[in-house]
Amino acid sequence: MGRPSSVPPPRARNDRREFFKRSGAATVAAAALPVALTDAQAAAAGAFQHGVASGDPLTDRVILWTRVTPAMPKTAVSLTWVVALDPQLSRVVLRGTAKTLPARDYTVKVDAIGLQPGTTYYYRFMAEGSASPIGRTRTLPTGTVDRLRIAVASCSNHAYGYFNAYARIAERADLDLVLHLGDYLYEYGAGQYGSVRTPEPVTEMVTLADYRLRHAQYKRDADLQAVHRQHPFICIWDDHEIANDSWLSGAENHQSATEGDYAARVAAGLQAYYEWMPIRPVDTVRLRKNWRNFRIGNLVELMMLEERLSARSQPLVATIPTAFGNGFVQTGSFADESRSLLGSEQEAWLSGQLQSSPAQWKLLGQGVMFAQLKLQGAPNAQGGGVFLNPDQWDGYNPARNRVFNVLKGSSTGRPVDNMVVLTGDIHSSWAADLTQDPNNPDTATGGYNPATGQGSRAVEFVGTSVSSPGVDSDTSGSTAGFLRSQNPHFKYINLHKRGYLLLDVTPQRVVGEFWHIDTVASLSNLQTFAAAFEVQAGTNRLVPSAQTTPRANAPLLAP
Ligand SMILES: [Fe+2]
Repeated sequence: MGRPSSVPPPRARNDRREFFKRSGAATVAAAALPVALTDAQAAAAGAFQHGVASGDPLTDRVILWTRVTPAMPKTAVSLTWVVALDPQLSRVVLRGTAKTLPARDYTVKVDAIGLQPGTTYYYRFMAEGSASPIGRTRTLPTGTVDRLRIAVASCSNHAYGYFNAYARIAERADLDLVLHLGDYLYEYGAGQYGSVRTPEPVTEMVTLADYRLRHAQYKRDADLQAVHRQHPFICIWDDHEIANDSWLSGAENHQSATEGDYAARVAAGLQAYYEWMPIRPVDTVRLRKNWRNFRIGNLVELMMLEERLSARSQPLVATIPTAFGNGFVQTGSFADESRSLLGSEQEAWLSGQLQSSPAQWKLLGQGVMFAQLKLQGAPNAQGGGVFLNPDQWDGYNPARNRVFNVLKGSSTGRPVDNMVVLTGDIHSSWAADLTQDPNNPDTATGGYNPATGQGSRAVEFVGTSVSSPGVDSDTSGSTAGFLRSQNPHFKYINLHKRGYLLLDVTPQRVVGEFWHIDTVASLSNLQTFAAAFEVQAGTNRLVPSAQTTPRANAPLLAP
């Protein structure tokens, strides 16, 4: 989700789906400090101008990524790579060769197999007489795991501002991994959604060449390079990796008359995505199918969902005028059981994972807000009230009910406890109890008691954006306060700060810490701890918490 389409730019819409994305648009001043590599720096970087990255760690392997920029076009480029236990690369445990081609835009992916679980490694590529930066990564642990620390990021818009949040995540030496929940890059052309930096190409990305150029520009950002260099990523895409508000067969920001076949555009965007991201394809034929799970010892089952391109039904249009723009109610097409966000195949997979995983916590890494977001709250028996955003799970309420039914249990499955939903997309910070009837105070009829959390079945943390705008005018919190008055299941709402979420998991509890940065208009190293909430095992509801303590003896950062 994000700003409206670019043809013609900028299009004015009074659409509440855009509320969180458009407020504050065009208010960011031009910045003075360049953060992308200069030409001289790029030349010094030799063949490796786009850094290194790692991702999709398992207990015995991890994807290592880089991109070669040959001095002149070549039909093929050969590389060598090493993996070691120390930042000086003196204790090498794996080495190998690789080859890349123009047909994959000179990107390189190695699945480094044969590693030990729960271990930090350092790696480097060599090609064309150059050595890449040294990267640092970590495999997943096995067996009894007493603690996991994760940074959660989303919505990193290069044009809209600097990636200070990435720089702060890069500095945290004690993280196990970084989750990126989508909108890793944005499709818009120059001036259409942010004017701090000029996108490459200057036009909206539509073709394979466009998508590759945009990925390459992002990967030249020094802070993006830093966070990839220090931590393995587990990524899912949201909509902007292809086009705004995408679904199975179209997107709000795709016009077939001028931009061609949508399926071809998706194929181009995904080809570039798989080339440029440290991700292990689940299915090399069905590229849209990238939902996958990661077992993190006995502590966490991490399930990464695909909510855009596999099966999502077209978002419906909100038509009820309100003070905040158009809203909608859960009748008519919104109540259509056949509409889907995940598709039946992924729903069945998710249900099976939730019911069968022996892990203490079930974490869902996914794109759009799961909790209800109402402009006017009402119990379900009275219609449920007026909802804001048809692009999130509110626009797919029957599909959301199917997930709740899994959590509640049935004759074929036991109830599921300890599910924590992690979400991006909406450029703002939220903590929520997840309940099917948040405005019904009678827990005996399936309602929810906001004072005790009774009636909550799971919890959700929505992390704010790296740089994309929220409701930047809500510095007093009045809009957030209004939303909390209508939505008692939210324990925290901040609409105007950028940053990231820090998740600290132990067998006893999951703590979500909201960390905010001061600006995206310029480079800055300021960050602020804003708030923390936790869910204790077996309770399925949030309570206020405190900042957690970093791990002692964290592995050395990469140089
Ligand atoms: Fe976004």
